[in-house]
Amino acid sequence: MLSESARQRIDQEVAKYPPEQKQSAVIAALSIVQQEQGWVSPEAQQAVADHLGMPPIAVHEVVTFYNMFNTRPVGRFKLNVCTNLPCALSGGGTAAQYLSEKLGVALGETTPDGVFTLQESECLGACGDAPALLVNDRRLCSFMRAERLDALVDELRAEAAKGGTQ
Ligand code: FES
Repeated sequence: MLSESARQRIDQEVAKYPPEQKQSAVIAALSIVQQEQGWVSPEAQQAVADHLGMPPIAVHEVVTFYNMFNTRPVGRFKLNVCTNLPCALSGGGTAAQYLSEKLGVALGETTPDGVFTLQESECLGACGDAPALLVNDRRLCSFMRAERLDALVDELRAEAAKGGTQ
């Protein structure tokens, strides 16, 4: 379930901690698995647990606590729209609804072409820039009202057509 390359990378992370604290590398290990496989399947969670000597339920708790881990396959671009209170008061819900209608998918769904997955997100730490949105857990986008959402979707569609990711 873990590739040789993933094992090597995880072991590099494990080496940063004392031997009896291998579990401290769990987030790094899960990130490596997700980078490689696109999501963290139950089998991958088990493999990480075995590799780090952790109870599988402890790994599962980490996977389900952090929004960045995908518990099922996602599209090429995962759009996490913040709908927590500060964003909600400044158009977060409206942004999520706008994207839902524009992409033709409900929150939590992936477009049939596999390009976009739309999700609600917890606070992204950018409350003053609401509505805030995160692309693929890395690119933070601010003030995402209709015009900027249109531009972002166009940009990402063009990127997908070229075969790239962000
Ligand atoms: S509430 Fe949306 S970024 Fe904080």
